[in-house]
Amino acid sequence: MPPDGAEASSSATLTLPDGRVLQLPVLRDVSGATFLDVRRLYPEHGVCAFDPGFNSTASCASAITYIDGENGRLLYRGYPIQELAKHGDMMDCWHLLLRGTLPTRAQRRVFQREARGHRMVHEHLIRFFNGFQHDAHPMAIMVSVVGALSAFYDEDHGLNYEDSEARDLAGLRVVGKMTTLAAMAYKTAHGQPIVYPRDDLNLAENFMYMLFALPTRAYEVDPVAAKCLETILMLHADHEQNASTSTVRIAGSSKANPFACVAAGIASLWGPAHGGANEAVLAMLEEIGDVKNIPKCLARAKDRNDPFRLMGFGHRLYKTVDPRATLMRDMCHSLLSHLRSSDPLLALAMELEKLASQDEYFTSRRLYPNVDFYSGICFRALGVPRNMFTVVFAVARSVGWISQWCEMAGEKPQRISRPRQMYVGSSERRFVPVAERGDEGDEGDEKDGSFGSLESVERRIVDVRVAMPRP
Ligand code: CMC
Repeated sequence: MPPDGAEASSSATLTLPDGRVLQLPVLRDVSGATFLDVRRLYPEHGVCAFDPGFNSTASCASAITYIDGENGRLLYRGYPIQELAKHGDMMDCWHLLLRGTLPTRAQRRVFQREARGHRMVHEHLIRFFNGFQHDAHPMAIMVSVVGALSAFYDEDHGLNYEDSEARDLAGLRVVGKMTTLAAMAYKTAHGQPIVYPRDDLNLAENFMYMLFALPTRAYEVDPVAAKCLETILMLHADHEQNASTSTVRIAGSSKANPFACVAAGIASLWGPAHGGANEAVLAMLEEIGDVKNIPKCLARAKDRNDPFRLMGFGHRLYKTVDPRATLMRDMCHSLLSHLRSSDPLLALAMELEKLASQDEYFTSRRLYPNVDFYSGICFRALGVPRNMFTVVFAVARSVGWISQWCEMAGEKPQRISRPRQMYVGSSERRFVPVAERGDEGDEGDEKDGSFGSLESVERRIVDVRVAMPRP
């Protein structure tokens, strides 16, 4: 059966080297994209698909976010990100992602009240923050404290996440508390007293207040800066099956507590190839320092023997400019002009983008700026310190994670995520007792000589033909 919303269109013929001819269903999703349905391939024929990094594998069917990477389009539940960013706000975005629709005006009032009501965290949870060193990375704090929420909201407290209302409540709790926990992580990592949330402020205003207010002086939220932060949060709210979202879904597939699943997502987001890229972009721009050093940086990025990559460039899905990067760049300009400020890193970033876009290495691989290329400059203008960039990303993405978790946890039937592997290690061999092993090298290992490398496995796989139906 195709998943809801997809349709079976025809079948493809797969011819295996042993002569077996298999028919694989071909599915089409609502965008017309084609999928080979290999779900019965292993159970019925003992053959696996090999796809490290999931470049060609759809791990689920989802109705939340759509990315058209060829044309640089991003839709949340069908609405283009540009329109949401221009005309909507985070309440629209949360309601849309969590509950599937833009709220009516009456729904918005109730939803906003509910979401604000979840900003507080249990006082006992606040004690966790005292356990961290003053210089702990706030992402390390976030992984811990968000995971710790699972100790407060679990089955022992009467919650049954099989129930859709309990899942919706988990969603509101996650999004409601993330800004509070993120601000507390910031205060802890900067040795400042924690600031409690204020229900009279909107999401972004309250977040800025909790981040920047001090007991020693009055803090006025700049509404233009707060609107800019809110837009940043909306641009990062969901991005279909990226590494962190897939992590949340995989963790959730074992029916783990949703807060623990979100903590797993935060851990996955942290890396520089994912949400940590915004921090890395600023470090890279600072290291470049001057326009005259850009060619050297591009040469390093192109050098196969150098692990350095142009941070904030390239994307698994976008083969043109990430639409979020364009919005982010425009926002950098308007925010800096509102603040009557300038940032030499913005000029440097724009020159870097220009030179990379004229370079055959980047154009032939279709590497363009992604959302992280300009977000760090916006964060800097907002006064967000560098080690908080990824935390703000996590705050933004939490609604996407929990919406995807709700979608997955509501599916029937559910299967635990359990990929297979291609084994390229040693075949079975005799254990060598310590007394029989030598003193150096790998003399202790019993040699076996059979299928020791991926290459030798690949050599055995010959002549598999897949005949796809004509489009
Ligand atoms: N600088 C230099 N070369 C690059 C870059 C880059 N930023 N990105 C990709 N390439 C090259 C790569 O070396 C490969 O070259 P070749 O074909 O000669 O081997 C080719 O482009 C294809 O790259 P890939 O590694 O197969 O692409 P991927 O889809 O696995 O990786 C990526 C996507 C985002 C991890 C990668 O582009 C990257 O590391 N970018 C820099 C880090 C970054 O900005 N990450 C933020 C991602 S967007 C935010 C988010 O959604 O989390």
